[in-house]
Amino acid sequence: MEWKKEYEHGILWQDVQHHQLLDQINELIRLVVSEERDEKGFNKVVNFVIQYCNNHFKIEEAYMTSHGYPRAKNHIAAHHQFIRDMKKLLSMEGENNKEKSQELLSSLMEWFVTHVLETDKYLAQFILKHKVS
Ligand SMILES: [Fe+2]
Repeated sequence: MEWKKEYEHGILWQDVQHHQLLDQINELIRLVVSEERDEKGFNKVVNFVIQYCNNHFKIEEAYMTSHGYPRAKNHIAAHHQFIRDMKKLLSMEGENNKEKSQELLSSLMEWFVTHVLETDKYLAQFILKHKVS
């Protein structure tokens, strides 16, 4: 998946972090396609996702709550659901690295399309409209 100009919502910090997420998705695609057992590469992607949830979500949520964003409740609930899904996926017992990589990849791709490109776009438009960035 190549980064496209249309993926930019116009808020620099948000766009940069979304781009970083796509880079990690591409790294994961490379791992899954190559079918090599790359534990280190997989862990690197996992660590990025954990850090992404901690930092990126917190920044977005801080904007939402401090500026009375009307869609905040659903947006924050989506973040919490994603964190729950990730925890579940990463704690899967008896799954090998290959299966986990594939699961993680499909979850991240779905997240990118439904959340990053849609839900986060509404937030960016709100920030731009109210000039709160
Ligand atoms: Fe978000």
